[in-house]
Amino acid sequence: MDAGGDIMNAIDHGGRIYEYAEKHLVDWTEIEDFSANINPLGPPQKVLDVLSESLQQIQHYPDRRHVMVKRVLSMRLSLAEDQILCGNGATEVIDLLIETLRPSRLAILTPAFQGYEQVARRWGIPLLKISMIIEDSLVFPMEKLLADLRPGDGLIINNPHNPLGFALKAEELLPLLELLETREVYMIIDESFMDFLPDQTLWSMIPSIKNHRFLYVVRSATKMYAIPGLRFGYMVGDANLVALIETKRDGWSVNQLAQTAASIAYQDKAFDERTWRFLDIEKHWISQTWGKHPSVEVLPFHANFFLVRFSKERIATQLLEMLGNKRVYLRGMNGFEPLDNRYLRVAIKHHEQNVKLWNLVEAFLCGSLST
Ligand SMILES: Cc1ncc(COP(=O)(O)O)c(C=O)c1O
Repeated sequence: MDAGGDIMNAIDHGGRIYEYAEKHLVDWTEIEDFSANINPLGPPQKVLDVLSESLQQIQHYPDRRHVMVKRVLSMRLSLAEDQILCGNGATEVIDLLIETLRPSRLAILTPAFQGYEQVARRWGIPLLKISMIIEDSLVFPMEKLLADLRPGDGLIINNPHNPLGFALKAEELLPLLELLETREVYMIIDESFMDFLPDQTLWSMIPSIKNHRFLYVVRSATKMYAIPGLRFGYMVGDANLVALIETKRDGWSVNQLAQTAASIAYQDKAFDERTWRFLDIEKHWISQTWGKHPSVEVLPFHANFFLVRFSKERIATQLLEMLGNKRVYLRGMNGFEPLDNRYLRVAIKHHEQNVKLWNLVEAFLCGSLST
């Protein structure tokens, strides 16, 4: 049995650089990876410095109370430490949350991060899939959600949305939260890409945690602080549920280096600001290049990646293949139903890399490169 093949059929994810390298018989360092949405400015230098000074920590078990990082997060978010659950990435936190809440059904808005479906399957929770794409247009299915959701259900919404790129303001989500709460429907907002937005009070639901006990908000450090290989994520919500999860979880899943790195990253305001300034400039450049080409449609985007649509599947597929042969990787939409192969997702990287990619794409679209 090909165990590797089975695993990869079940999970499709960007950033599979070791597999790309193996496929093309190159070293992973030669890969230009636009397929995972990781901040190119990171990890922050302060994080790298503290990690190299902290290597001796690996000879001890991690602090299973996550004291240091919870203290930092509690100050950053103005929430009590007992409302915070730390995890080995947002993935573990979502898993623990769904396992413990055990909603009768889990509603997901498609296209959706594949991890949601996986978690629901793992815990035997029926999925309710509601599409946000109708005839190539993006529609937020407010009425359908209100018609379909029943007491005991859970709803997970990703904001800013991966892979579509849009973000909803907190004031747009609040009425839905309030209506669902009267029906005792759990609402989980996955804000894994929220740290890329400068004006978070406008967009984040974390300030609403205080008054809404059916609301849970998940965040990830792996994208903003570029530590997907080290891993850290957290959730905020009802302190009783956090306490319950802590009693039964694997207490050592968040290793001490990850806790140390996250504590430093979440205090590095200068890094956040540098990232926001950088993204602002790159987003403008993307709108002037990709956004102006007649053969590409760029969907509105708020975080550190964007989704593009070509007029035909053949164009996007050939482009992906041409780029792959040059060791440049974008994310095709395999696993993101109902999106089809006309769509590709592109991470924003350093300016020189963004220019290099655009030059390849533009030349391909002009037909000057044969594939
Ligand atoms: C929307 C969304 N949520 C959660 C995750 C998982 O993030 P982490 O690396 O923190 O487990 C991802 C990873 O790509 C994601 O796209």
